[in-house]
Parts: sequence; C-alpha cells; structure tokens
Amino acid sequence: MSPSLLFSLPGNGALASLLTRELGAVAGELEIRRFPDGETYVRYRTSVADRRVILLCTLDQPDAKFLPLMFCATAARDLGARSVGIVAPYLAYMRQDRRFHPGEAVTSSSFATLVSHCVDWLVTVDPHLHRIRSLSDVYSVPAVALQSAPLLAEWIIRNVERPLLIGPDMESEQWVASVAERSGAPFVTLGKVRHGDHAVDVTVPDLQRWSGHTPVLVDDIISTAGTMVTTLRHLSQLNQRPPVCVAVHGLFAGSAYDDLRRAGAAMIATTNSVPHSTNAIDLSRLIADGVTAVMPGEPH
Ligand code: R5P
Repeated sequence: MSPSLLFSLPGNGALASLLTRELGAVAGELEIRRFPDGETYVRYRTSVADRRVILLCTLDQPDAKFLPLMFCATAARDLGARSVGIVAPYLAYMRQDRRFHPGEAVTSSSFATLVSHCVDWLVTVDPHLHRIRSLSDVYSVPAVALQSAPLLAEWIIRNVERPLLIGPDMESEQWVASVAERSGAPFVTLGKVRHGDHAVDVTVPDLQRWSGHTPVLVDDIISTAGTMVTTLRHLSQLNQRPPVCVAVHGLFAGSAYDDLRRAGAAMIATTNSVPHSTNAIDLSRLIADGVTAVMPGEPH
C-alpha cells in the first residue's frame, strides 16, 4: 500500500517534519490562503486520490483553525482519499462539557459532532477528560486519546532534583498521579476554586515534610496561567526550592508566560502539542504510534 500522506496546516510545520519521519509518511503539499474578503481558499497540490490522508492541525485558537481544517477534510474526501484523519495534538472545546449555567452551549459535544461528520478518525494527546469519561462519549468516529505522562515523567527525572509533584486541583490528579507513579516522585493535589476566567483560589496543604524537594507543578493545560500563578504565590511563602512548571499543553493566553515567570517559575516545560518556546517534550513518537493504531489499512 502507498505510504500515507501527511498535510500540515499552517503553524504545525515543526511537529509535521518529526511526525512524517516517525510515520514513514510522505509530506503532501497543501495551499491554504485567504481571499481578500476573508474567506478561505484550499487546494491540494499533491493528489490525494486513493491515499490515506493525515491532516495535522493542533487546535489552540480553534475558531480560526476549524473552518480551514474542515474544508481540507471534506475536500480530501471529495477528491477520492481512501481515508481522512485528523491529528490534533491539542484538542479544543473539551472543558465546556456541561451546562454550568442555564442557557449555556455545551460546546464539547457540538464540536465533537462537527468533527465526527468530516473525518474517519482522530488522534489527540491528553484531552481534558473530566466529566466526559472517554472521547467516544462525544466523538462518533474512532478517537484516540494518547497519554503523555511517561514523557513528562522522563523529562522530570532528567531535569529536576528531588521533585515533589503538585497537581493544582482534583482534575489534575489523573495526570499528576500517573506522572508520579512513573517518576517515583511523591505528589500532592491542591484544592482549587475557580471564580472566573482569570480568578482562581487554591488551598495549599502543609508541605513541611517535603522541604528540600523541588516543587513541580503538573497540569494538563496552562491557559491564562491563573491556576499555576496562584499556586506559585502560595509556594513562594514556604521557602521551597525554586519551582518548576510542567504542562502537556501550553496555550499561554495573553501574558500567561510572563506572569508565570514573574510569579517565580524557575523552569517551564511543555510538550510540542502547541508550538511555544517552552516546548521541551517531543510527542512525535507517541503520536505516530497512535496514528498507526487507528488509521485504516495500517497493520495492527
Ligand atoms: C482545569 O480544569 C485544567 O486542568 C487547568 O487547570 C486549567 O485549564 C488551567 O487554566 P488556567 O491556566 O487558565 O488557570
């Protein structure tokens, strides 16, 4: 069977090169541009007829990226692709997974329905599964949720002396516990109450018995960084070693990165799910394995 074709949507070039190599795929050429009126133009410059197509598009800032991605997916089908899948290392719209207030849209399921209509499969990394237990609860196509915990653990073992892992809230326990198990480090989780997009309170337990350890904040997402900044402020009063922040997805909305630095983060490490200067943990091998497992026609 011919090798699969990987098309990188704008902004995904660095991971695309790594992933194309890991998969033994061929990099396809895709033209995407805007018409003067703001509408999107898409043209495949590599024929997709009878080929397995992989579209790589991480979905931070999803509203701008989603329509071009859907045009690419539906065009590939129209042009006779054998199958079309999306690799979205960061999968958007996983947090509004219920109606917290009357009248709200439950965007997790609306988004999943739209994506499921246009592709044959999806691969992502550590989606924010909290109240939604599994991607198959909302996605009707095969959707693989890969776990980056072993890679985070490996990075922490290599880079941090005597780590004490700290999950800023109960939601983060699934990630922090898994990283702790693999790195052999102790962990605690904090209590968090969110009052708004930027306003967060955390309760830090007595960490006295861990003095001499390096606090490592571990979370799935850094968005506004409010969660980590608030935690760092508490830690700064406890005379701990300079803290480290590790996250799967560094979205860094607005001044989040500078805010984290100012709050005392000595090191910040993220995976390359969203391109950023803090990317220190490569996901390409993990993603390649996930694609190989889900893409039709691949040996299982
Ligand atoms: C919350 O549910 C997530 O696990 C993260 O803690 C949260 O998304 C971080 O957001 P922010 O950086 O805006 O505090």
